[in-house]
Amino acid sequence: MTEVRKPLIAANWKMYKGPRETRDFVGRFAGLYPPRTDRTIVFFPPAISIPAFLDATVGRPDLQVGVQDVHADLEGAHTGAISAPMAAETGVGWGLAGHSERRSEFGDDDADVAGKLRRLLDAGLKPILCVGETLEERTAGRLEEVLRRQIEAALGGLGGRRWSPPVLAYEPVWAIGTGETASPADASEAHAIVREVRLEAPGDAARVVILYGGSVKPDNIDALLGARGVDGVLVGGASLEPASFARICDGRFDPQLL
Ligand code: PGA
Repeated sequence: MTEVRKPLIAANWKMYKGPRETRDFVGRFAGLYPPRTDRTIVFFPPAISIPAFLDATVGRPDLQVGVQDVHADLEGAHTGAISAPMAAETGVGWGLAGHSERRSEFGDDDADVAGKLRRLLDAGLKPILCVGETLEERTAGRLEEVLRRQIEAALGGLGGRRWSPPVLAYEPVWAIGTGETASPADASEAHAIVREVRLEAPGDAARVVILYGGSVKPDNIDALLGARGVDGVLVGGASLEPASFARICDGRFDPQLL
């Protein structure tokens, strides 16, 4: 029997919510969003708030948690950084790699992202590889080339490791935190490119899971989650408020619309 397709809905809290606000959010969110077996929900709080998140969700194992970033080294003199094994030891199950803010603010290049992806896998975590073009690149007609470069570079670092199913987030940089959203048609187009690049890659042929990210809100979630090829969403700003994120987690999804 083939498994029913479930959407993956992820909250990227960035540098918002310390332990106290994390506990407060979970308490309120849990009251608004009862467990559902037909979707997967993952939160990415700041690393320092992960123990508080785990504490607050003891009765809600459906609310999963991940780390926003790890270093590409296993240990070393890297002040402020954390490694993938350290993150795994805290009890998280997931990790982001290649978020555009890491690329633009912290200078992560394709080689760093490849290293982080590899470390997440080695630590037994489920990575979400973030890719996406800037407005300049899109306007210059370079969407496909940029996505291809980012994905191939990250896959190139895997050295035969198994990544199944691969989970990627297509996040156009011009839509992140701007209130601009890709249209459902634009999202479908980009997701088709991501899917094709990944399918051409060697190794596992499991169906790629592709999230859309960039100004996802309660009022556009149904349209975006309903777009062909969209398997879920990665949400920043609109995940910070319990009612807003609960509405997003209840977004309409058609498992048949591949
Ligand atoms: P946004 O952020 O929803 O605030 O645009 C998305 C992201 O950066 O993952």
